[in-house]
Amino acid sequence: MTRTWFITGTSSGFGRELTEQLLRRGDRVAATARRPHTLDDLAARHGDQLWRAALDITDTTALREVVDRAFAELGRIDVVVSNAGYGLFGAAEELTDEQIDRQIATNLTASIQLARAATPHLRRQGGGRFVQIASVGGQIAFPAMSLYHATKWGIEGFWESAAAELAPFGIDVTIVEPGVSRTNFGAGGSVLGPPLPEYADGPSGQLRRMAAGELPPLPAPGDPAKIAAAIIARADQAGGPLRLTLGSDAYALATDALGNRLRALEAQRELAHSTDADS
Ligand SMILES: NC(=O)c1ccc[n+]([C@@H]2O[C@H](COP(=O)([O-])OP(=O)(O)OC[C@H]3O[C@@H](n4cnc5c(N)ncnc54)[C@H](OP(=O)(O)O)[C@@H]3O)[C@@H](O)[C@H]2O)c1
Repeated sequence: MTRTWFITGTSSGFGRELTEQLLRRGDRVAATARRPHTLDDLAARHGDQLWRAALDITDTTALREVVDRAFAELGRIDVVVSNAGYGLFGAAEELTDEQIDRQIATNLTASIQLARAATPHLRRQGGGRFVQIASVGGQIAFPAMSLYHATKWGIEGFWESAAAELAPFGIDVTIVEPGVSRTNFGAGGSVLGPPLPEYADGPSGQLRRMAAGELPPLPAPGDPAKIAAAIIARADQAGGPLRLTLGSDAYALATDALGNRLRALEAQRELAHSTDADS
């Protein structure tokens, strides 16, 4: 069955990989990108199967206009993928106000606004699916990545709540949590805050030395092609669990972090109960 997808951030990485695989199997894709010319080769190969629009997702007015236009011109859209995003790294104290605002606007606010813009359309057509490319970084936290984690933990909370609101309308939600993967994310897609010497010997300094090629990069087991295929396979089935954790590193990190949290919570059982009011 041919289906129609709407995807943000299709110039590289997971967005590009999803777009390529979907077009290859005959689906229609409404692909948005800040630089839509990066899709010229796919447009030449796939013609009308590919619908394109220029979109910086931090422009909420443009985002609403592009979503409305895509539904108007394509009729039905089955899957809406919120993918565009990037990493902002460095100790929280090192980051500039502008860097913080932009990270939240891109990774968190824009995903929320995409959900709000597309929901009335999915509701009116009787259902569909949202796919949020989040991260295992929405389940765990490393130092020198606090703002990235804030956006990814934030979008997890948003979708866990919104999924329950949308279920009665036949709208499914999948939160995808990849581990470190071989996209442009680590190779130029990420931003570092201006360095403070006080953090040079800690995790922030280490990340900077990795970015400068002075230290080996983090292992990146995730294969974007396999990750895109797993996302498509999940979206092909109705329902399914809310979260899709992909990558051996993501699985190990999430298992460890959730186990530790549960054990720490259980250790506080008596204290938690002791603070209830007497009556
Ligand atoms: N790769 C990983 O290790 C990893 C792991 C977990 C989660 N993720 C998540 O996966 C998603 C996709 O990243 P990726 O790994 O595929 O990296 P990528 O290759 O760098 O792709 C990121 C995409 O987002 C786009 N983008 C960034 N800011 C945008 C904006 N304001 N408006 C529109 N498009 C924007 C980029 O467009 P431009 O080309 O115009 O910059 C690019 O198309 C992100 O949400 C990221 O957090 C990645």
